[in-house]
Amino acid sequence: MKVSIEVNGRSLTEEVPDRTLLVHFLRDTAGLTGTNVGCDTTSCGACTVLLDGESVKSCTVLAAQADGHAVTTVEGLSSSDGELHPVQQAFQEQHGLQCGFCTPGMIMASVSLLADNPKPTRDEVRAGLEGNLCRCTGYHNIVSAVIGASGQEVDR
Ligand code: FES
Ligand code: FES
Repeated sequence: MKVSIEVNGRSLTEEVPDRTLLVHFLRDTAGLTGTNVGCDTTSCGACTVLLDGESVKSCTVLAAQADGHAVTTVEGLSSSDGELHPVQQAFQEQHGLQCGFCTPGMIMASVSLLADNPKPTRDEVRAGLEGNLCRCTGYHNIVSAVIGASGQEVDR
């Protein structure tokens, strides 16, 4: 089937098999490999993107379901001159990444979290990111990054 998705502000129309998952559309058709596949079973959050501004796990969304909608991936966060999004900047400043595999999904989930709750507590950040797993288990700095991105003082 033909799907037309606005990916990071650019319209992309492609013929894909009906069963194509959004994550595979993004990686294989759009060539945006920042969205990772960790588990493929809705458990890890590595594939998190924004669909019309709401975070979704793109391994459980068909590309067909995104037809006519807007998707933002981690590649779409920074400005065209390369300036990092505040959440990306905060992950860098607070050492919120280790191997980095989970980081794009963590960042997209954090952007969504902060849109809903601009000044979260550490507990609220932990609850908001519970669908995103970091196999390196360094959650402390990830929570600090989200607190920092919210403009609050990072209390260690
Ligand atoms: S790859 Fe989608 S949740 Fe793990
Ligand atoms: S930084 Fe490695 S899985 Fe999270």
